[in-house]
Amino acid sequence: MKLILLGPPGAGKGTQAKILNEGLKIPHISTGDMLREEVKNQTELGKEVKKIMDSGALVPDNLINKVIEDRLGRDDTKKGFILDGFPRTEAQAITLDEILKKNSSGGIDLVLYFDATLKIIIERLSGRLVCRNCGVNFHKKNVPPKKDMICDFCNGQLYQRDDDKEDTVKNRIKVYEEKISPLIDYYQKQNKVRKINADLSANEAYDILMKLFKKENLS
Ligand code: AP5
Repeated sequence: MKLILLGPPGAGKGTQAKILNEGLKIPHISTGDMLREEVKNQTELGKEVKKIMDSGALVPDNLINKVIEDRLGRDDTKKGFILDGFPRTEAQAITLDEILKKNSSGGIDLVLYFDATLKIIIERLSGRLVCRNCGVNFHKKNVPPKKDMICDFCNGQLYQRDDDKEDTVKNRIKVYEEKISPLIDYYQKQNKVRKINADLSANEAYDILMKLFKKENLS
């Protein structure tokens, strides 16, 4: 199954993608996670994108397209994948179609549009904690770790993402709103968009997705 998760920052795409990855056994490909890894390892790419990410702007298409093309060229994507954070612009969606064509791996099955209200988004982003070691997301109130600032799964240190600061969040939402309509239109023309109520709990959203996959004969 080839899925794209679309939606505003903090809508719960990454959280749901990790649950889907366990259930469907297909890789979760998050361009945000991949870029943060480059920043952490201080690679050339990481140094180039750090400032851009910290400001909440988008990394240029030529850089991100290369990252995604390399990732989709790996064998573990043959049975499908969950794309989280890519594409983010219509131009990236066109590039994705070209990559899939080149890899002869068939088109995208569904685009899951995570529709969340602004109040929920702000609350989720301001409380998000991420494990520095394994990348799992927690939330100060919604998904608190058992031990303060320690990951339940690997004992790694939890931290707040640099781009979850208030001003950057505002800019990320603005950038998202500027880009989303043409992207949705692009996939709507292919009848691939399915809207999900992302204000619901992660378990409720997961149940809805499972029912949807069944209805679409994808399970
Ligand atoms: P990226 O990492 O992709 O950030 P984003 O799209 O802004 O999405 P988030 O990770 O903030 O939110 P999410 O929807 O995954 O929410 P989450 O599950 O964590 O991108 C970061 C930056 O990288 C961009 O700004 C850009 O600079 C660059 N970039 C990345 N891709 C790019 C591209 N394609 N092109 C150009 N630039 C690119 O949940 C949030 C919190 O809420 C967590 O604490 C979680 O525990 C909690 N939570 C989640 N779901 C629920 C729920 N249902 N109920 C209660 N709490 C919940």
